[in-house]
Amino acid sequence: MTESMTEAIASRHSVRSYREKQLPHQLIQSLQDEIDACNAAGHLHIQLVTNEPQAFSGMLAHYGNFKGVTNYIALIGADAQDLQERCGYYGERLVLKAQMLGLNTCWVAMTFSKGNAKKHLQLSGNEKIACVLALGYGAVQGEPHRSKPLSALFHSETEAPDWVLNGMNAVLLAPTAMNQQKFLFDYSNQTVSCKSLGGPYSSIDLGIVEYQFEAGSGHQIVSF
Ligand SMILES: Cc1cc2nc3c(=O)[nH]c(=O)nc-3n(C[C@H](O)[C@H](O)[C@H](O)COP(=O)(O)O)c2cc1C
Repeated sequence: MTESMTEAIASRHSVRSYREKQLPHQLIQSLQDEIDACNAAGHLHIQLVTNEPQAFSGMLAHYGNFKGVTNYIALIGADAQDLQERCGYYGERLVLKAQMLGLNTCWVAMTFSKGNAKKHLQLSGNEKIACVLALGYGAVQGEPHRSKPLSALFHSETEAPDWVLNGMNAVLLAPTAMNQQKFLFDYSNQTVSCKSLGGPYSSIDLGIVEYQFEAGSGHQIVSF
């Protein structure tokens, strides 16, 4: 079943347990097309790895409660000041695309074996892995996360229009590292901006919530 963007935003939750079912060829092609578009737009080197159990078979993956992960997307790019934010932005675009294609995902910065993953990835000189996305047919669909109230994540001097509120409703549902939600959106002079409030992986989180805002509001707020 394919979902709309709105449905995908609402139904996406981190899934750490996957069924053995292989990804059909056509679905892999759809993901690869989206990855190619993200790489071109974001100057990235994102790579899809399928049927590869090693990256999620070590102690770290066990700690992270991952089961049955054999497909993942590695968010890779040349080292740059905004690499993490760009990987967050385009990574969330891929997460929502995967959800619309009927797959489940989980952002993973820590609980996987980077060493094992690297054996299956092409990394040139100054390229870095910012994060990976575990991917496949979930054994479960995951659970909604607890969220901070809108007032803690959003400031506005004037009454915000509906498109801004639609964007913020999507942002409340966005994944962040350890569910930290350490960012603040601002609406002033008819312009939306977002800043990070620090914390581990918060630059990736920043890119994620920026994309999620755009997907929920239908308005572009950043350009890379
Ligand atoms: C940048 C980033 C890194 C993450 N790293 C991990 C990780 O290493 N291990 C893990 O189990 N979950 C990881 N997560 C998943 C978060 O714990 C999860 O997104 C958060 O608790 C919100 O839950 P939800 O995704 O179900 O909405 C990460 C999420 C993000 C955005």
